[in-house]
Amino acid sequence: MSEPLAGKTVVLGITGSIAAYKGAEVARRVMDLGADVHVTLTRAGAEFITPLTLRTLTGNPVTVSMFDAPDEWQVKHVSLAERAAAVVVAPASADAIAKLALGLADEFVYALVLATRAPLVVAPAMNDKMFAHQATQEHLQQLRARGARIVEPETGRLASGAVGRGRLAEPETIAAAVAEVVAPGDLEGVRVLVTAGPTRERLDPVRFLSNRSSGKMGYALAEAAARRGAEVTVVSGPTAIPAPARCEVKRVETASEMRREVLRRFPKCDVLIAAAAVADYAPATVEDSKLKRGEKSLTVKLHPTKDILADCGGRKKEGQFLVGFAAETEDLLARAREKLAAKKLDVVIANDVSRAGVGFESERNAGYALLAGGEEIELPEMEKPAFAERILEVVVAGLQGKRRRRRKR
Ligand SMILES: Cc1cc2nc3c(=O)[nH]c(=O)nc-3n(C[C@H](O)[C@H](O)[C@H](O)COP(=O)(O)O)c2cc1C
Repeated sequence: MSEPLAGKTVVLGITGSIAAYKGAEVARRVMDLGADVHVTLTRAGAEFITPLTLRTLTGNPVTVSMFDAPDEWQVKHVSLAERAAAVVVAPASADAIAKLALGLADEFVYALVLATRAPLVVAPAMNDKMFAHQATQEHLQQLRARGARIVEPETGRLASGAVGRGRLAEPETIAAAVAEVVAPGDLEGVRVLVTAGPTRERLDPVRFLSNRSSGKMGYALAEAAARRGAEVTVVSGPTAIPAPARCEVKRVETASEMRREVLRRFPKCDVLIAAAAVADYAPATVEDSKLKRGEKSLTVKLHPTKDILADCGGRKKEGQFLVGFAAETEDLLARAREKLAAKKLDVVIANDVSRAGVGFESERNAGYALLAGGEEIELPEMEKPAFAERILEVVVAGLQGKRRRRRKR
């Protein structure tokens, strides 16, 4: 298991939501990432889950009231505020969100948030009306504007039995957000080029051939690499999702435009992550005017496009690191290995796109990282941002390995 939070202290504040019991699972997931977790419950939080559960789970004392041992509070609150690599409030009640936005300090966790300079992650959980209320939304906006990371609640069945938006995000997603805000900075100074999204191959002025890629995987990779300190450029096909933060984005439409922009930037990058689903074929001719409806069948001749990744593999200089994706529906690992070798990649991420709920258009992904040295790392099903972090860990380890080998020579 990878441990991006190894050696880090994370403070988890559990507040008065019916989802407080899921706070135990959040603690577990954050611990799984290597962190030393210190839980603090608000008085309302302690109505829903016992300190005993959390103390047993984390192996650390659990703070409930600031006033239990007043002399201890000063020591604890200052030392935790200084040691914390991140503070995560999960679940965050509407009341908690309001207090955090206003800077109130009537509970240990709220006082700690004011006393620390560690990043803050907030995972709201409440009924849909409370979540949608303008007051809650304004408070969340204030927190966002101050740099807090809001892990959006999901739509689903709520405690009331009604279906709506306000259900606590998955503990795994919250833990991944904590890992992301505690960015390791291990790509500082590294220039990363990412391709993302589909391409569109024009048939006529209004029609095109494309594929189901959403761009989510590429954008998650770009954003995660930037957070780790990389200088990131994304060459992106058409997508409907917001541009990744802190990245330069070059928008393209066709495979040939993508090729031109990637080859132009490739010599200056240290890492290329090719997550775009580039068309393998494009119409041999593009009609100048819209094709008219007719009675007879229509044959469209397709020509193969040029293989961008193979071109980059051929031009790869020592020290450059290439990551490709193999989206397959059969013989996944064998085909991915062929791609790894044929295109001179360092890593190929093999995705079985025939599996329901993962891959194209989905929020989740699953697969394997196959390394040029023969190693095979299973990447279990997870949300794409968490999946991106795992891929970057493989990239960081690979880059370090390359540098070590170069130094030895
Ligand atoms: C059974 C029950 C369930 C509750 N569930 C929620 C909830 O899911 N989300 C929420 O914002 N408030 C919920 N509340 C209300 C909060 O517990 C209340 O606003 C409390 O003051 C929150 O305090 P805290 O944010 O300091 O923990 C619930 C209250 C009760 C009695």
